[in-house]
Amino acid sequence: MIYVLIPEREKAKIRTKNKVQTKKYSIPDNLKELGLGKTYYIKTYGCQMNVHDSENIKAILEEMSFKEVDEMEKADLILLNTCAIRENAHNKVFGMIGRIKHMKEERPNIIAGICGCMAQEEGVVEEILNKYKWLDFVFGTHNIHELPLVLEKSMNSKKLEVQVYSCEGDIIEDIPVKRDSKYKAWVNIMYGCDKFCTYCIVPYTRGKQRSRNPKDIIREVEKLKKDGYKEVTLLGQNVNAYGKDLEISYDMSNLLIDVAKTGIDRVRFVTSHPWDFTDEMIEVISKYDNVMPYIHLPLQSGSNRILKLMGRRYTKESYLELFHKIKNRVKDVAITTDIIVGFPGETEADFNDTLDVVNECKYDSAFTFIFSPREGTPASKMKDNISLKEKEERLYKLNELVNMYAKEANGGYLNRVVKVLLEDKSLKDGFNFIGYTDTMKLVNVKAPLDKLGKIVDVKITNVQSFSMDGEMVE
Ligand code: 5AD
Ligand code: SF4
Repeated sequence: MIYVLIPEREKAKIRTKNKVQTKKYSIPDNLKELGLGKTYYIKTYGCQMNVHDSENIKAILEEMSFKEVDEMEKADLILLNTCAIRENAHNKVFGMIGRIKHMKEERPNIIAGICGCMAQEEGVVEEILNKYKWLDFVFGTHNIHELPLVLEKSMNSKKLEVQVYSCEGDIIEDIPVKRDSKYKAWVNIMYGCDKFCTYCIVPYTRGKQRSRNPKDIIREVEKLKKDGYKEVTLLGQNVNAYGKDLEISYDMSNLLIDVAKTGIDRVRFVTSHPWDFTDEMIEVISKYDNVMPYIHLPLQSGSNRILKLMGRRYTKESYLELFHKIKNRVKDVAITTDIIVGFPGETEADFNDTLDVVNECKYDSAFTFIFSPREGTPASKMKDNISLKEKEERLYKLNELVNMYAKEANGGYLNRVVKVLLEDKSLKDGFNFIGYTDTMKLVNVKAPLDKLGKIVDVKITNVQSFSMDGEMVE
């Protein structure tokens, strides 16, 4: 029998007033050796949230005695942690599922499954049940902590096990984590999103906004600091709304202060929605040296008409006001953004409004996308009469502009001495490390080998659009 609990879009839309409980993760003792003698490989798609989920999943698998391998071909268990944000993310995953099918024909004992945002989509799970029954398991974003039970059932029955909840559950603390880096760490501060921007699938795949308790977050950061971590990035789909669902009066500016006061060297946060960005937050960022002067502030569009259709709840004018307030208050701040072109009905004039904002803001860098209709979102039903060719031309034009300003912003760093956390080996000839500046600029650095994991002063000797080169100075 195939055990099936499938996601339903209509349920995923619902925002209940149910109180969110905080519970503790635990793994039944009898499952701790389920993976003995077996290896695993996880392929992660999408955003930082997924990257961090994979860090949790890896640790859970290792508690079950699975061992990580760095090639899919060598693994006994293969897991795709998927992203649903745009169509191309979907296509990549289905391409990979095809590849796994071939591997499974040769090695039938491989256990293969999918999780992440695509697993939360009704249409995707239906497709899997119709066409990919040979997969072994599917679980969603709301029940990562149940992975041991899902795997146990699947391995015992040797049948497809689908366990995806439509709605979010409780907040689970103390899920183990195997971090990719020894120096910088992701820290979830909240889950889900209640903004329902009309193009976005996230509120359906990640559920209702739930903030973690401040004391649990601070405890995690304190432990990271004690373990030698230099940097934390506070993670959420819309971190500025942090705390709005808590019963205590405590918001993102309070959290930033408390995290800064732990004394960890660097504090970052993503992603900010311009609508919830308060003056108090700006004050905290400018006041605390260890809150990094780097803000990702998605614009999406510079046209008020399109912003309204997107349900973004701000105007071009209010966005610019916020932008300039941040620039004026936070010394040397770098601001990056996300922009979508070709939203349904976007005219040349709308697109030019976007270019106007880019020309005014001169972003440090920008992630740019062609609108991708996501099943079940309001925007996917809006009339879209712009040709793909037109959308591609707009994207090209926008990228030219964005890259020009990125290079210009980097140009300002030439010959300056900046702080860089040396976090990994550089692949560029003549340089041994890569790292990021306080403002999130990627730098190839020449420095003594024992400086790995340290924040050092680097003199910038060369700049390109997407990276810089530099040499450590004593
Ligand atoms: N089509 C194109 N881009 C999208 N994004 C979110 N949903 C869509 C979509 N349907 C972009 C937004 C968001 C970033 C993470 O992805 O710009 O900020
Ligand atoms: Fe999606 Fe908007 Fe929520 Fe960001 S704020 S995750 S774009 S719905």
